Amino acid sequence: MSDRYCVIGNPIAHSKSPLIHAAFAAAMGQDLIYERCLAPLDGFEATVRGLVDQGYRGANVTVPFKLEAARLATRLEPRAHAAGAVNTLIFANGEIVGDNTDGPGLVADIVRNAGVALKDKRILLLGAGGAARGALLPLLLQAPRQIVIANRTLATAERLVQDFSKHADKLAVSGFAEVEGSFDVVINATSASLASDVPPVPPTVFHPGTLALDMMYGNKPTVFMDFATLHGASVRDGLGMLVEQAAEAFVLWRGVRPDTAAVLTSMRQP
Ligand code: ATR
Repeated sequence: MSDRYCVIGNPIAHSKSPLIHAAFAAAMGQDLIYERCLAPLDGFEATVRGLVDQGYRGANVTVPFKLEAARLATRLEPRAHAAGAVNTLIFANGEIVGDNTDGPGLVADIVRNAGVALKDKRILLLGAGGAARGALLPLLLQAPRQIVIANRTLATAERLVQDFSKHADKLAVSGFAEVEGSFDVVINATSASLASDVPPVPPTVFHPGTLALDMMYGNKPTVFMDFATLHGASVRDGLGMLVEQAAEAFVLWRGVRPDTAAVLTSMRQP
């Protein structure tokens, strides 16, 4: 019988993960089934236990269950612990292991796909919620010169920096309007694009050659990407990150790394 996996969320019908994992499995000759799994808002734990009982080998976790998944895991990998959130579960030897591949997926998309090394670079991270938290440790591991975290609610950004006090010399906090200087990479980890809002940072955060990445994606550029383009940055949406986080999860489950370029190209076709 094929090994079974799924992505758990609510809602889940829109998820592209089954498409991505089916493409990886086909390319790698791996015999697996990957499905969508709608969990009731108050039924995440029961859903996971049901999957374990049915012999599933693992699952991805998406909105709104990433924090609950971190609490449910019997063991957390360090990057999931640092993120306080889990997007990948591995069911093995009676354990529910929680990991987080979102941040590594982001870094892979920037470094490998966009070809932008992060060592000694200045990074502006917009947002201080779950998405920003998940990105922070993988970004720090690339040895950037500095990461400025700007958020609408300053106290949330300050708490995030306190949680990463080991890296305090690399981190700074700012309000959007007060961000000073320009950056090599600007990452929008807020959910502002969902409301067609742009975090009100000064356009001087961009210089020619700045990479501006929005973690959101859709069938047209986000308002943040339009703003960044207007001020000379080159832009990326979150689709590359999505495919890369899936690849990282595939490695954890199957022990082999799928090629992401072909999958990303085919997903960009209209
Ligand atoms: P996620 O898991 O997507 O990060 P979250 O934890 O709810 O979701 O965090 C959402 C982030 O987007 C926060 O940084 C939030 O700012 P606040 O901490 O001030 O709430 C930010 N955000 C949401 N809507 C925004 C908007 N319209 N403009 C700017 N920032 C916004």
